[in-house]
Amino acid sequence: FGDAQFVVVANRLPVDKEVLPDGTVNWKRSPGGLVTALEPILRSQTGAWVGWSGIADSDDNPDIEGIDIHAVPLSTQEIAEYYEGFSNATLWPLYHDVLVKPEYHREWWNTYVEVNRRFAEKTATAAAEGAIVWIQDYQLQLVPKMLRMLRPDLKIGFFLHIPFPPVELFMQLPWRTEIVEGLLGADLIGFHLPGGAQNFLFLARRLAGQATSKGTVGVRSRFGVVQVGFRTVRVGAFPISIDSGDLDAKARSKDIRKRAAELREELGNPKTIMLGVDRLDYTKGIDVRLEALSELLAEHRIKPEETVMIQLATPSRERVDSYVRMRAGIEQLVGNINGVYATVGQPVVQYLHRPVPRDELIAFFVAADVMLVTPLRDGMNLVAKEYVACRSDLGGALVLSEFTGAAAELRSAYQANPYDLDGVKDAIEAAVQQSTEDGRKRMRALRRQVLAHDVATWAESFLGTLESVTETAADPN
Ligand code: G6P
Repeated sequence: FGDAQFVVVANRLPVDKEVLPDGTVNWKRSPGGLVTALEPILRSQTGAWVGWSGIADSDDNPDIEGIDIHAVPLSTQEIAEYYEGFSNATLWPLYHDVLVKPEYHREWWNTYVEVNRRFAEKTATAAAEGAIVWIQDYQLQLVPKMLRMLRPDLKIGFFLHIPFPPVELFMQLPWRTEIVEGLLGADLIGFHLPGGAQNFLFLARRLAGQATSKGTVGVRSRFGVVQVGFRTVRVGAFPISIDSGDLDAKARSKDIRKRAAELREELGNPKTIMLGVDRLDYTKGIDVRLEALSELLAEHRIKPEETVMIQLATPSRERVDSYVRMRAGIEQLVGNINGVYATVGQPVVQYLHRPVPRDELIAFFVAADVMLVTPLRDGMNLVAKEYVACRSDLGGALVLSEFTGAAAELRSAYQANPYDLDGVKDAIEAAVQQSTEDGRKRMRALRRQVLAHDVATWAESFLGTLESVTETAADPN
């Protein structure tokens, strides 16, 4: 047994390893919300984090104050088959409405099983007796069951950060039963939305009760509970959020305000700044917003001389084929729009394919009149919430796809169906033309939601439920 009372298990560590050209190693903090949310909990008790450093064959454990790091090394082949292959060319497209065709290969699956086993083993050595273990996301769906076999004393939670697909799509997966059974090793399984939880409950009933090598396991599921033999597994919705208070404070700071004003100046003081901020991923519908913009310009509903659209795209999964193809498509769209509507020195679309520093990003949020969030499918979409948290001035307008998890909470956004291009165009036009009064009313309502539900309340709600589930399970009465 190890000595950690609380263990987070995620594909990525809270820090990314970087080897500089001169060979020196640098650990960059991941900017993700998960680290921010869990850091106080990890520090308040003996906390550990099990994950991968982001590069091949590296097993050094960086020193982060208060958090014990347990790196799981991955070989080049494992990165290709477990991370790029099964996680991001099989599961990712399957769970996102098969926007590209998922690939099913036995070698990828075998490596996924193998790597999940290593994560489970590493976790088993890090966790103290009776510890709480919180496993994150689609890369590690077999870990709950594998870990329970090694360490039945642990309290195990699992949270899926992406959508859980409809039953008909999930049934494509040749290893669907193994995945469902893997997840059922947890005491609590969390999804963003009730719909994902419903899909899972249905599948658990349909798949997990079948004959296994140890005979048939009885599985019954209703009202958010799956009964697996004598074990009870709770299933529920826990919509994730951001550190809204912190972002709100940062966006109010003088430096950020000044930088936002400078940005507007640098862009030539356009009437409307539109903004998109995404990992460069085909789920994000960057093409949808570019096509909408292109048609609005062609129909003279938006004037090129009054408009600048900034698209910030963080490079992502660049060795996966579908990402390479999508990047080419988007860059062509940007080129087409500028080819027709730009004047020399004044492009209509400005596109950056690189990470943007956090403070600069906040200044962009503060400067943007219209925020474009148009995914074809997204588990939550935290960018939409970040934009809202940055607008204490009650300025700006949010155009939001109905196909994001965030749409369930951000009702006062200009919502549109991303498959209905005319609808997206109408939403963008309405956002551009909104009256100050209507805009303030909408933003006030959005902010009430985002400030009241932050990432700390998300983590507390999940971990509180996990505690109560495991206590009831341990209590014979
Ligand atoms: C999504 C997933 C995360 C993942 C992140 C970045 O948000 O839910 O699990 O870490 O994308 O993707 P990457 O492949 O770079 O880790």
